[in-house]
Amino acid sequence: PSDNLQMEGSSNLKRENCRAKGGSPGFKVAILGAAGGIGQPLAMLMKMNPLVSVLHLYDVVNTPGVTADISHMDTGAVVRGFLGQQQLEDALTGMDLVIIPAGVPRKPGMTRDDLFNINAGIVRTLCEGISKCCPKAIVNLISNPVNSTVPIAAEVFKNANTYDPRRLLGVTMLDVVRANTFVAEVLGLDPRDVDVPVVGGHAGVTILPLLSQVKPPCSFTQKETESLTSRIQNGGTEVVEAKAGAGSATLSMAYAAVKFADACLHALRGDAGVVRCAFVSSQVTELPFFASRVRLGRNGVEEIYPLGPLNEYERVGLEKAKKELAGSIEKGVSFVRK
Ligand code: NAD
Ligand code: LMR
Repeated sequence: PSDNLQMEGSSNLKRENCRAKGGSPGFKVAILGAAGGIGQPLAMLMKMNPLVSVLHLYDVVNTPGVTADISHMDTGAVVRGFLGQQQLEDALTGMDLVIIPAGVPRKPGMTRDDLFNINAGIVRTLCEGISKCCPKAIVNLISNPVNSTVPIAAEVFKNANTYDPRRLLGVTMLDVVRANTFVAEVLGLDPRDVDVPVVGGHAGVTILPLLSQVKPPCSFTQKETESLTSRIQNGGTEVVEAKAGAGSATLSMAYAAVKFADACLHALRGDAGVVRCAFVSSQVTELPFFASRVRLGRNGVEEIYPLGPLNEYERVGLEKAKKELAGSIEKGVSFVRK
Protein backbone atom coordinates (compact mmCIF):
# COMPACT_ATOMS: atom_id res chain seq x y z
CA PRO A 1 0.00 0.00 0.00
CA SER A 2 1.38 3.37 -0.96
CA ASP A 3 -0.18 5.48 1.76
CA ASN A 4 0.30 3.31 4.81
CA LEU A 5 2.92 3.78 7.44
CA GLN A 6 5.52 1.50 5.97
CA MET A 7 8.80 2.01 7.73
CA GLU A 8 10.72 0.05 5.19
CA GLY A 9 13.21 0.84 2.50
CA SER A 10 14.11 -1.31 -0.47
CA SER A 11 16.60 -3.21 1.69
CA ASN A 12 13.77 -4.45 3.88
CA LEU A 13 11.83 -5.62 0.86
CA LYS A 14 14.96 -7.38 -0.39
CA ARG A 15 15.32 -9.04 3.01
CA GLU A 16 11.74 -10.25 2.94
CA ASN A 17 12.00 -11.62 -0.60
CA CYS A 18 15.31 -13.23 0.16
CA ARG A 19 13.86 -15.06 3.17
CA ALA A 20 10.89 -16.20 1.13
CA LYS A 21 13.11 -17.55 -1.66
CA GLY A 22 15.57 -19.19 0.67
CA GLY A 23 12.72 -21.14 2.26
CA SER A 24 13.96 -20.23 5.73
CA PRO A 25 11.20 -20.31 8.32
CA GLY A 26 9.52 -16.97 8.41
CA PHE A 27 5.93 -16.27 9.26
CA LYS A 28 3.88 -13.14 8.75
CA VAL A 29 2.37 -11.92 11.97
CA ALA A 30 -0.06 -9.06 12.62
CA ILE A 31 -0.73 -7.48 15.99
CA LEU A 32 -4.07 -5.65 16.22
CA GLY A 33 -3.97 -3.14 19.08
CA ALA A 34 -0.19 -2.89 18.71
CA ALA A 35 0.17 0.56 20.28
CA GLY A 36 -1.42 -0.46 23.58
CA GLY A 37 -0.08 -1.54 26.95
CA ILE A 38 0.16 -5.16 25.80
CA GLY A 39 0.65 -4.37 22.13
CA GLN A 40 3.94 -2.48 22.49
CA PRO A 41 5.96 -4.99 24.51
CA LEU A 42 4.33 -7.78 22.48
CA ALA A 43 5.50 -6.09 19.27
CA MET A 44 9.00 -5.78 20.69
CA LEU A 45 9.15 -9.44 21.69
CA MET A 46 7.72 -10.63 18.37
CA LYS A 47 10.36 -8.55 16.54
CA MET A 48 12.93 -10.61 18.47
CA ASN A 49 11.36 -13.91 17.38
CA PRO A 50 13.46 -15.62 14.68
CA LEU A 51 10.37 -17.36 13.27
CA VAL A 52 8.83 -14.01 12.29
CA SER A 53 9.80 -12.55 8.90
CA VAL A 54 7.15 -9.82 8.64
CA LEU A 55 5.50 -8.00 11.53
CA HIS A 56 2.46 -5.79 10.90
CA LEU A 57 1.51 -3.38 13.67
CA TYR A 58 -2.08 -2.14 13.50
CA ASP A 59 -3.91 0.22 15.84
CA VAL A 60 -6.30 3.15 15.68
CA VAL A 61 -3.66 5.40 17.33
CA ASN A 62 0.11 5.86 17.60
CA THR A 63 1.38 3.17 15.24
CA PRO A 64 3.78 5.56 13.42
CA GLY A 65 5.86 6.04 16.55
CA VAL A 66 5.72 2.45 17.75
CA THR A 67 6.62 1.18 14.28
CA ALA A 68 9.53 3.59 13.83
CA ASP A 69 10.85 2.60 17.23
CA ILE A 70 10.52 -1.19 16.85
CA SER A 71 11.80 -1.15 13.27
CA HIS A 72 15.25 0.01 14.45
CA MET A 73 15.87 -3.26 16.29
CA ASP A 74 18.52 -5.22 14.40
CA THR A 75 16.58 -8.45 14.17
CA GLY A 76 15.28 -10.17 11.04
CA ALA A 77 11.61 -9.29 10.90
CA VAL A 78 10.48 -6.51 8.58
CA VAL A 79 8.12 -4.18 10.48
CA ARG A 80 5.27 -2.18 8.96
CA GLY A 81 2.76 0.07 10.68
CA PHE A 82 -0.90 0.56 9.85
CA LEU A 83 -3.09 3.29 11.31
CA GLY A 84 -6.88 3.41 11.41
CA GLN A 85 -9.60 1.25 9.98
CA GLN A 86 -8.95 2.24 6.38
CA GLN A 87 -5.61 0.39 6.70
CA LEU A 88 -6.94 -2.72 8.46
CA GLU A 89 -7.19 -4.76 5.28
CA ASP A 90 -3.61 -3.97 4.26
CA ALA A 91 -2.47 -4.88 7.74
CA LEU A 92 -4.15 -8.30 7.51
CA THR A 93 -3.54 -9.40 3.93
CA GLY A 94 -1.25 -12.43 3.74
CA MET A 95 -0.87 -12.94 7.50
CA ASP A 96 -0.20 -16.42 8.96
CA LEU A 97 -0.90 -15.43 12.56
CA VAL A 98 -3.02 -12.58 13.93
CA ILE A 99 -2.69 -11.63 17.60
CA ILE A 100 -5.46 -9.42 19.01
CA PRO A 101 -4.87 -7.39 22.18
CA ALA A 102 -7.15 -4.51 20.98
CA GLY A 103 -9.70 -3.11 23.38
CA VAL A 104 -10.13 -1.43 26.74
CA PRO A 105 -8.66 -2.85 29.95
CA ARG A 106 -10.25 -3.04 33.43
CA LYS A 107 -10.05 -0.46 36.19
CA PRO A 108 -10.40 -1.36 39.90
CA GLY A 109 -13.91 -2.54 40.75
CA MET A 110 -14.68 -3.77 37.24
CA THR A 111 -15.15 -7.34 36.07
CA ARG A 112 -13.89 -8.48 32.68
CA ASP A 113 -17.51 -8.70 31.59
CA ASP A 114 -17.84 -4.94 32.19
CA LEU A 115 -15.58 -4.56 29.13
CA PHE A 116 -18.04 -6.43 26.91
CA ASN A 117 -19.96 -3.42 25.59
CA ILE A 118 -16.85 -1.77 24.11
CA ASN A 119 -14.67 -4.74 23.25
CA ALA A 120 -17.34 -6.92 21.61
CA GLY A 121 -17.75 -4.43 18.75
CA ILE A 122 -13.98 -3.98 18.36
CA VAL A 123 -13.43 -7.74 18.12
CA ARG A 124 -16.31 -8.13 15.66
CA THR A 125 -14.86 -5.49 13.30
CA LEU A 126 -11.35 -6.93 13.47
CA CYS A 127 -12.61 -10.47 12.83
CA GLU A 128 -14.62 -9.29 9.83
CA GLY A 129 -11.31 -8.02 8.45
CA ILE A 130 -9.64 -11.37 9.13
CA SER A 131 -12.44 -13.25 7.31
CA LYS A 132 -11.94 -11.03 4.31
CA CYS A 133 -8.15 -10.74 4.14
CA CYS A 134 -6.53 -13.76 5.84
CA PRO A 135 -9.24 -16.37 6.50
CA LYS A 136 -6.63 -19.12 6.96
CA ALA A 137 -4.63 -17.27 9.61
CA ILE A 138 -4.32 -18.64 13.13
CA VAL A 139 -6.01 -16.16 15.49
CA ASN A 140 -4.77 -15.59 19.06
CA LEU A 141 -7.49 -13.61 20.82
CA ILE A 142 -6.44 -11.71 23.96
CA SER A 143 -9.14 -9.00 24.23
CA ASN A 144 -11.42 -9.43 27.23
CA PRO A 145 -13.80 -10.86 28.15
CA VAL A 146 -12.13 -13.82 26.40
CA ASN A 147 -15.00 -16.12 27.48
CA SER A 148 -17.28 -14.03 25.23
CA THR A 149 -14.95 -12.58 22.60
CA VAL A 150 -13.93 -16.03 21.32
CA PRO A 151 -17.60 -16.99 20.69
CA ILE A 152 -18.06 -13.58 19.02
CA ALA A 153 -15.13 -14.27 16.69
CA ALA A 154 -16.51 -17.73 15.89
CA GLU A 155 -19.92 -16.28 14.95
CA VAL A 156 -18.33 -13.63 12.74
CA PHE A 157 -16.28 -16.29 10.95
CA LYS A 158 -19.35 -18.52 10.58
CA ASN A 159 -21.30 -15.65 8.99
CA ALA A 160 -18.48 -15.21 6.48
CA ASN A 161 -18.21 -18.98 5.85
CA THR A 162 -14.57 -18.92 6.92
CA TYR A 163 -14.88 -20.56 10.35
CA ASP A 164 -12.28 -23.19 11.09
CA PRO A 165 -12.51 -23.91 14.83
CA ARG A 166 -8.94 -25.22 14.86
CA ARG A 167 -7.61 -21.76 14.00
CA LEU A 168 -9.35 -19.70 16.67
CA LEU A 169 -7.65 -19.71 20.07
CA GLY A 170 -8.50 -17.63 23.13
CA VAL A 171 -5.27 -16.84 24.98
CA THR A 172 -5.37 -18.14 28.56
CA MET A 173 -1.61 -18.53 28.78
CA LEU A 174 -1.29 -15.83 31.45
CA ASP A 175 -3.28 -18.03 33.83
CA VAL A 176 -0.77 -20.83 33.28
CA VAL A 177 2.18 -18.44 33.64
CA ARG A 178 0.76 -17.16 36.95
CA ALA A 179 -0.08 -20.65 38.17
CA ASN A 180 3.45 -21.85 37.41
CA THR A 181 4.88 -18.86 39.30
CA PHE A 182 2.65 -19.11 42.37
CA VAL A 183 2.93 -22.90 42.64
CA ALA A 184 6.72 -22.72 42.28
CA GLU A 185 6.80 -20.19 45.14
CA VAL A 186 4.92 -22.59 47.41
CA LEU A 187 7.03 -25.59 46.40
CA GLY A 188 10.32 -23.70 46.51
CA LEU A 189 11.06 -24.61 42.87
CA ASP A 190 12.22 -22.71 39.82
CA PRO A 191 8.99 -21.70 37.96
CA ARG A 192 10.57 -22.90 34.71
CA ASP A 193 10.45 -26.44 36.08
CA VAL A 194 6.75 -26.27 36.97
CA ASP A 195 3.78 -26.93 34.69
CA VAL A 196 0.24 -26.35 35.92
CA PRO A 197 -2.70 -27.10 33.63
CA VAL A 198 -5.34 -24.37 33.91
CA VAL A 199 -8.69 -25.16 32.31
CA GLY A 200 -12.17 -23.64 31.95
CA GLY A 201 -12.04 -20.01 30.85
CA HIS A 202 -10.41 -16.67 31.58
CA ALA A 203 -12.38 -14.88 34.32
CA GLY A 204 -12.82 -15.45 38.06
CA VAL A 205 -14.17 -18.89 38.93
CA THR A 206 -13.96 -20.00 35.30
CA ILE A 207 -10.16 -20.07 35.76
CA LEU A 208 -9.66 -23.58 37.11
CA PRO A 209 -6.09 -24.63 37.96
CA LEU A 210 -5.74 -28.41 38.18
CA LEU A 211 -3.36 -28.55 41.14
CA SER A 212 -3.73 -32.33 41.34
CA GLN A 213 -2.01 -32.56 37.93
CA VAL A 214 0.99 -30.30 38.54
CA LYS A 215 4.28 -31.42 37.07
CA PRO A 216 6.53 -32.38 38.77
CA PRO A 217 4.09 -34.47 40.82
CA CYS A 218 3.49 -32.89 44.24
CA SER A 219 0.80 -32.52 46.85
CA PHE A 220 -0.74 -29.56 48.65
CA THR A 221 -2.64 -29.20 51.90
CA GLN A 222 -6.28 -28.17 51.57
CA LYS A 223 -5.29 -24.70 52.78
CA GLU A 224 -2.56 -24.42 50.15
CA THR A 225 -4.96 -25.65 47.45
CA GLU A 226 -7.56 -23.06 48.40
CA SER A 227 -5.17 -20.14 48.63
CA LEU A 228 -3.32 -21.06 45.41
CA THR A 229 -6.59 -21.49 43.51
CA SER A 230 -7.87 -18.16 44.76
CA ARG A 231 -4.62 -16.34 43.91
CA ILE A 232 -4.54 -17.80 40.39
CA GLN A 233 -8.21 -16.93 39.82
CA ASN A 234 -7.65 -13.38 41.07
CA GLY A 235 -4.22 -12.75 39.55
CA GLY A 236 -5.65 -10.27 37.05
CA THR A 237 -7.46 -8.35 39.78
CA GLU A 238 -4.27 -8.30 41.88
CA VAL A 239 -2.56 -6.41 39.03
CA VAL A 240 -5.56 -4.16 38.29
CA GLU A 241 -5.65 -3.07 41.94
CA ALA A 242 -1.88 -2.54 42.15
CA LYS A 243 -2.00 -0.40 39.00
CA ALA A 244 -4.79 1.60 40.67
CA GLY A 245 -6.59 2.83 37.56
CA ALA A 246 -3.66 2.71 35.13
CA GLY A 247 -4.84 -0.51 33.47
CA SER A 248 -4.36 -4.25 33.86
CA ALA A 249 -1.55 -6.72 33.24
CA THR A 250 0.47 -5.70 30.19
CA LEU A 251 4.07 -6.89 30.64
CA SER A 252 3.35 -10.37 31.99
CA MET A 253 0.59 -10.60 29.37
CA ALA A 254 2.95 -9.66 26.55
CA TYR A 255 5.32 -12.34 27.85
CA ALA A 256 2.50 -14.90 27.99
CA ALA A 257 1.19 -13.88 24.55
CA VAL A 258 4.63 -14.36 23.03
CA LYS A 259 5.05 -17.71 24.74
CA PHE A 260 1.74 -18.78 23.21
CA ALA A 261 2.30 -17.22 19.77
CA ASP A 262 5.76 -18.79 19.60
CA ALA A 263 4.19 -22.19 20.30
CA CYS A 264 1.70 -21.58 17.46
CA LEU A 265 4.56 -20.66 15.08
CA HIS A 266 6.60 -23.73 16.03
CA ALA A 267 3.49 -25.85 15.38
CA LEU A 268 2.89 -24.08 12.04
CA ARG A 269 6.48 -24.90 11.12
CA GLY A 270 5.72 -28.57 11.76
CA ASP A 271 7.32 -29.13 15.15
CA ALA A 272 5.83 -32.11 16.99
CA GLY A 273 4.53 -32.26 20.56
CA VAL A 274 3.54 -28.60 20.99
CA VAL A 275 0.97 -28.61 23.80
CA ARG A 276 -0.51 -25.54 25.49
CA CYS A 277 -3.69 -24.56 27.34
CA ALA A 278 -6.12 -22.42 25.30
CA PHE A 279 -9.81 -21.49 25.19
CA VAL A 280 -11.11 -23.20 22.06
CA SER A 281 -14.12 -24.81 20.42
CA SER A 282 -14.29 -28.04 22.39
CA GLN A 283 -16.16 -31.21 23.22
CA VAL A 284 -14.33 -31.77 26.49
CA THR A 285 -17.49 -30.66 28.33
CA GLU A 286 -21.06 -30.03 27.16
CA LEU A 287 -20.13 -26.36 26.54
CA PRO A 288 -19.23 -25.26 22.99
CA PHE A 289 -15.99 -23.60 24.16
CA PHE A 290 -13.64 -24.58 26.95
CA ALA A 291 -9.99 -24.04 27.86
CA SER A 292 -7.87 -27.14 28.27
CA ARG A 293 -4.60 -28.60 27.05
CA VAL A 294 -4.46 -28.76 23.27
CA ARG A 295 -1.89 -30.07 20.83
CA LEU A 296 -1.00 -27.53 18.17
CA GLY A 297 -0.03 -28.34 14.61
CA ARG A 298 0.10 -26.90 11.10
CA ASN A 299 -3.64 -26.20 11.15
CA GLY A 300 -3.89 -24.84 14.68
CA VAL A 301 -5.57 -27.12 17.23
CA GLU A 302 -4.95 -30.73 16.16
CA GLU A 303 -6.07 -32.49 19.33
CA ILE A 304 -7.85 -31.53 22.52
CA TYR A 305 -6.91 -33.52 25.59
CA PRO A 306 -9.51 -34.62 28.14
CA LEU A 307 -9.34 -33.04 31.59
CA GLY A 308 -7.92 -36.16 33.22
CA PRO A 309 -8.76 -37.29 36.74
CA LEU A 310 -10.07 -34.46 38.95
CA ASN A 311 -10.24 -34.49 42.75
CA GLU A 312 -13.39 -33.49 44.63
CA TYR A 313 -12.28 -29.84 45.03
CA GLU A 314 -11.66 -29.57 41.28
CA ARG A 315 -14.96 -31.29 40.42
CA VAL A 316 -16.85 -28.69 42.47
CA GLY A 317 -14.77 -25.93 40.83
CA LEU A 318 -15.56 -27.33 37.40
CA GLU A 319 -19.31 -27.12 37.99
CA LYS A 320 -19.01 -23.49 39.13
CA ALA A 321 -16.81 -22.68 36.14
CA LYS A 322 -19.21 -24.28 33.65
CA LYS A 323 -22.20 -22.40 35.06
CA GLU A 324 -20.55 -18.99 34.59
CA LEU A 325 -18.96 -19.93 31.28
CA ALA A 326 -22.30 -20.97 29.76
CA GLY A 327 -23.69 -17.45 30.28
CA SER A 328 -20.57 -15.70 28.95
CA ILE A 329 -20.48 -17.87 25.84
CA GLU A 330 -24.18 -17.31 25.17
CA LYS A 331 -23.72 -13.56 25.61
CA GLY A 332 -21.03 -13.53 22.93
CA VAL A 333 -23.01 -15.68 20.51
CA SER A 334 -26.16 -13.60 20.82
CA PHE A 335 -24.22 -10.34 20.39
CA VAL A 336 -23.51 -11.38 16.80
CA ARG A 337 -26.76 -13.27 16.11
CA LYS A 338 -29.14 -10.63 17.44
P1 NAD B 1 -4.63 -0.64 26.27
O1 NAD B 1 -5.77 0.29 26.39
O2 NAD B 1 -3.33 -0.25 26.84
O3 NAD B 1 -4.38 -0.97 24.73
C1 NAD B 1 -5.41 -1.36 23.88
C2 NAD B 1 -5.09 -0.87 22.49
O4 NAD B 1 -6.19 -1.25 21.65
C3 NAD B 1 -4.96 0.67 22.39
O5 NAD B 1 -3.74 1.02 21.79
C4 NAD B 1 -6.15 1.07 21.55
O6 NAD B 1 -5.90 2.19 20.70
C5 NAD B 1 -6.35 -0.20 20.74
N1 NAD B 1 -7.66 -0.25 20.10
C6 NAD B 1 -8.84 0.21 20.57
N2 NAD B 1 -9.80 0.03 19.64
C7 NAD B 1 -9.20 -0.56 18.59
C8 NAD B 1 -9.66 -0.99 17.32
N3 NAD B 1 -10.92 -0.85 16.96
N4 NAD B 1 -8.77 -1.56 16.49
C9 NAD B 1 -7.47 -1.70 16.86
N5 NAD B 1 -6.98 -1.31 18.03
C10 NAD B 1 -7.84 -0.74 18.88
O7 NAD B 1 -5.11 -2.06 26.86
P2 NAD B 1 -4.19 -3.33 27.19
O8 NAD B 1 -3.74 -3.24 28.58
O9 NAD B 1 -3.21 -3.51 26.10
O10 NAD B 1 -5.31 -4.49 27.14
C11 NAD B 1 -5.94 -4.83 25.93
C12 NAD B 1 -6.98 -5.92 26.14
O11 NAD B 1 -6.36 -7.14 26.57
C13 NAD B 1 -8.01 -5.58 27.23
O12 NAD B 1 -9.28 -5.97 26.78
C14 NAD B 1 -7.58 -6.43 28.40
O13 NAD B 1 -8.62 -6.72 29.28
C15 NAD B 1 -7.08 -7.66 27.68
N6 NAD B 1 -6.19 -8.53 28.45
C16 NAD B 1 -6.34 -9.88 28.28
C17 NAD B 1 -5.51 -10.75 28.95
C18 NAD B 1 -5.64 -12.23 28.78
O14 NAD B 1 -5.08 -12.98 29.56
N7 NAD B 1 -6.33 -12.71 27.75
C19 NAD B 1 -4.52 -10.24 29.82
C20 NAD B 1 -4.39 -8.88 29.96
C21 NAD B 1 -5.24 -8.03 29.27
C1 LMR C 1 -5.58 -10.62 33.33
O1 LMR C 1 -5.87 -11.76 33.68
O2 LMR C 1 -4.60 -10.01 33.81
C2 LMR C 1 -6.38 -9.95 32.26
O3 LMR C 1 -7.50 -10.69 31.92
C3 LMR C 1 -6.68 -8.53 32.55
C4 LMR C 1 -7.68 -8.34 33.65
O4 LMR C 1 -8.62 -7.57 33.45
O5 LMR C 1 -7.51 -8.94 34.71
